Amino acid sequence: MKKRKLNGLEVSAIGYGCMGLSQGYIPTPGKEEATRLIHQAFDLGCTFYDTAARYAMGANEELVGAALKPIRNKVVIASKFFIEKNNEDSSRDRLLQDLRTNLEHSLKRLGTDHIELYYQHRVNKDIPVEDVAYCMGEFIREGKIRGWGQSQATADEIRRAHTVTPLTAIQSEYSMMARAFEEDVIPVCEELGIGFVPFSPLANGFLSGTVNADTQYTGQDARRVITRFNKDNIIANQPLLDLINQFAAAKNATAAQISLAWMLHKKDFIVPIPGSRNPDRIKENLGAADVELTDIEYSRIEDALGKIAIHGNRTDEDLAKLRELK
Ligand SMILES: NC(=O)c1ccc[n+]([C@@H]2O[C@H](COP(=O)([O-])OP(=O)(O)OC[C@H]3O[C@@H](n4cnc5c(N)ncnc54)[C@H](OP(=O)(O)O)[C@@H]3O)[C@@H](O)[C@H]2O)c1
Repeated sequence: MKKRKLNGLEVSAIGYGCMGLSQGYIPTPGKEEATRLIHQAFDLGCTFYDTAARYAMGANEELVGAALKPIRNKVVIASKFFIEKNNEDSSRDRLLQDLRTNLEHSLKRLGTDHIELYYQHRVNKDIPVEDVAYCMGEFIREGKIRGWGQSQATADEIRRAHTVTPLTAIQSEYSMMARAFEEDVIPVCEELGIGFVPFSPLANGFLSGTVNADTQYTGQDARRVITRFNKDNIIANQPLLDLINQFAAAKNATAAQISLAWMLHKKDFIVPIPGSRNPDRIKENLGAADVELTDIEYSRIEDALGKIAIHGNRTDEDLAKLRELK
């Protein structure tokens, strides 16, 4: 597996997003099966694993930490914290204390004494990014984290945070169906030497071309509220799949692989983290690192993408509604 650098942190060119092993796409696999999938990803060369304190209320960190324990010094673990404003005491010392508690809990669940990449899961508009960055600097000095990042941050938030404690990577939604961050965030990452880690790089599986307009998503499956999976939108987005399938056929690759190869070609500091509960698909996704597009093929895709309208999206607001649904 090829390697890439996220502001100096070396990782496999494609990582493994572990969220779906505990939540988001149902049914989730049992612990033994999930552990097998993580080990399979490692055997295929994946050294970059993504989890978060929020996933299944910490259970995902426990699962990922336990699976990676035998190979801990050969892998990079990325996890994330969520922090609320403390209304009684908004001082930086109190923030440091609260973040330290979060970090200690994550370390315990992961069964490790350090995390290579620790992201703020969402920038909290009530807490200055500079204060969070200062606290991350403290944890780096203490050796508890090796680097830090932000998720879904704006270009301005990235610049401000990076001035206080340099960022390792930004993790945000990015795929052929969600390209808003191309405008300013990816250019700012390039300018400042920060890595960019696309989450949902296959648009929650839509870009694999395996989604059926008649599929009904139930329970706590996120695709129930992600509007690109509305029946009408699945049909309206067919031109995008046609484009991807055309290149997949020409390159003897799959649609998912073309979708990943496209973003790998875009910039060498982009490291996607597709997720799957299926061993064949994990192999397929990691195999995308070997699907190389020529500059001409890449430009053709870019030109065509610019002319294709995208229908539906994925928003935090829609996902919040999922929790209310039975
Ligand atoms: N920072 C954040 O706020 C945030 C938000 C969301 C996700 N994330 C992270 O990003 C990771 C990836 O996100 P994601 O899981 O939404 O990414 P994704 O890879 O775009 O979507 C995963 C979905 O696509 C399907 N899929 C994956 N590969 C496939 C293939 N080759 N063929 C057919 N279907 C395929 C999976 O189904 P099967 O399981 O059935 O294969 C699953 O339903 C997560 O695991 C998590 O670690 C972060």
